[in-house]
Amino acid sequence: MCGIIGVVGSTDTLATLLQGLQRLEYRGYDSAGVALVRAGHTWRARTAEGTESVAALRRECADAPEGYRSGIGHTRWATHGAPEAENAHPHLDCSGHVAIIHNGIIENHTELREELRERGHVFTSVTDTEVVAHLVEELRASGFDLLDAVRHALARVRGAFAIAVMDATEPDVIVAARRISPLVVGTSPGVTYVASDVPAILGRSTAFYAVNDDEIVRLGPEGFRAVDLEGAPVRLRQLQIDWDLETAEKGGFDDFMSKEIAEQPAAVRATLLDRRHRDGAIVFDELRISDQELLDVQRVVLVACGTSLHAAHVAKYAIERWSRLSVEVDIASEYRYRDPIVEIGTLVIGVSQSGETIDTIQAIREAQRRGARVVAISNIVDSSLAREADAVIYTRAGLEVSVASTKAFVAQVAALELLALRLAQLRKTLTPEEIERYVAGLNEVPDHVATVLDRRDDVDAVARQLLDARDYFFIGRHVGYPTALEGALKLKEITYLHAEGYAAGELKHGPLALIEPGVIVVAVTTDPLMHEKILSNVAEVKARGATVIAVATDEDGRIDAVADFVLRVPASDPMFSPMIDIVPLQLLAYSLARGLGRNVDRPRNLAKTVTVE
Ligand code: M6R
Repeated sequence: MCGIIGVVGSTDTLATLLQGLQRLEYRGYDSAGVALVRAGHTWRARTAEGTESVAALRRECADAPEGYRSGIGHTRWATHGAPEAENAHPHLDCSGHVAIIHNGIIENHTELREELRERGHVFTSVTDTEVVAHLVEELRASGFDLLDAVRHALARVRGAFAIAVMDATEPDVIVAARRISPLVVGTSPGVTYVASDVPAILGRSTAFYAVNDDEIVRLGPEGFRAVDLEGAPVRLRQLQIDWDLETAEKGGFDDFMSKEIAEQPAAVRATLLDRRHRDGAIVFDELRISDQELLDVQRVVLVACGTSLHAAHVAKYAIERWSRLSVEVDIASEYRYRDPIVEIGTLVIGVSQSGETIDTIQAIREAQRRGARVVAISNIVDSSLAREADAVIYTRAGLEVSVASTKAFVAQVAALELLALRLAQLRKTLTPEEIERYVAGLNEVPDHVATVLDRRDDVDAVARQLLDARDYFFIGRHVGYPTALEGALKLKEITYLHAEGYAAGELKHGPLALIEPGVIVVAVTTDPLMHEKILSNVAEVKARGATVIAVATDEDGRIDAVADFVLRVPASDPMFSPMIDIVPLQLLAYSLARGLGRNVDRPRNLAKTVTVE
């Protein structure tokens, strides 16, 4: 949720930190801060100006003293304590020498705070983080070096953390540690970095290393060494990072969201690339699970959050239809708390763009604890989810920066449908000819998505006429239902308008009471088998005064007579339609959000990666 960055041995410490923070803003952005540390001196600046915090921090830092070779920086998404400057990180101990940044939650901070207060420590914030600064202060006073002080302090805390700690009495050293929250270390000659995400140090660091849970790293200009909680040396695994800086930039678009919407054909294409063996078998090179294990699967459970959850809903239809396995989809944050049943042969699939969403990670941990085999679908190579699962399939959507997820969704559906076809291939529930036909259909999706993108002017024209609307219902049937859910999520998160997604058949069971003139109903009508039924639903809402926008195929000759606006898409097999039909809905949300003056990349109250429960 929060973003962290640290650097030691740099000749442009402040510029490195500020650039890193700017790139981390999408993780959390109600406040920001830096601390520069040299022998005996800590200089700190913090701002709490919402999404403008990093810009404000840059101004604050205009008068920063020079000559600091090391420092840490943080973008905060408030959990404990209001988004105010005194709660912004870095936090200091009583002496002002120890500085700490933290992503995560210290669960036992209240008892630690009381205990530390009793021993005379003075707190200047209401955050959970500050207790660690004071614990380190005590341990330093009793003679431990910074590495051991942090190590012993962490033995006292419960919860999730990625932290970086400095001490002006041991300058040019950062001690960083991780439990649950993500953390990477980077190196270049004479300079060492630590960050919550790779983009923060991309272009500066030339090598990247993953820090695992309960590992503590001491960084100095000459490099780093890592230990476990007992102090035993551990080796950090080097990561293969093939992004260049440009990947993280907007590439000529006004914002990341429009860039990422436009990248969807490439995202699907890349995800499908190289997935066939010469003998026709569908293969996933990175999947560390044997065919026999896949054949042994009796039941599938998908766990995910937000947009990834909607991709999982689509996958349920595909896996059940093609492989005849029973599939359950669960909200990740609910899964672990409902005493889930894991029988022999249960395959759990955790779906997450970032691979760092804590709810999804905790859900797969619970599944593993109960004996399930777990496959991760992740967009980030070596993400926590990918590392912890028994097997992984990577979507290859590329870095997604915009908080509103777009290209990750289409890539996830593509990857999950390929997996569904692989299961069907192994279980022989589809013939080789059917598999061929479906794979060919999947491969046509990128072109269909590109066709829809070429029609964005049609969507803009509709959006211009609806800028006064305040209530939206998205409806669909079969896989049109998860498409409707995802369309509603996109609209609500970036426009802040009321939007709900419904299975069209459910309308009559309550929501129809809310339909009246002024309400917009967006109907996904592309499935030929469901066409009659969804047209009836459209008639029901029209009769009650709603304005209807239909997403309809190019071949649909009946829709113009019943809908107020029609957004056309190329026809495809219904199973592939969510990847195509979602595009006009993303564009509609985008266009309305821009028309309403919203910040589409950084919607209020949201963070790109949710690393707290
Ligand atoms: O990284 P993940 O796929 O695990 O993220 C899950 C959700 O937090 C994410 O999809 C969120 O709902 C997006 N803001 C939706 O646009």
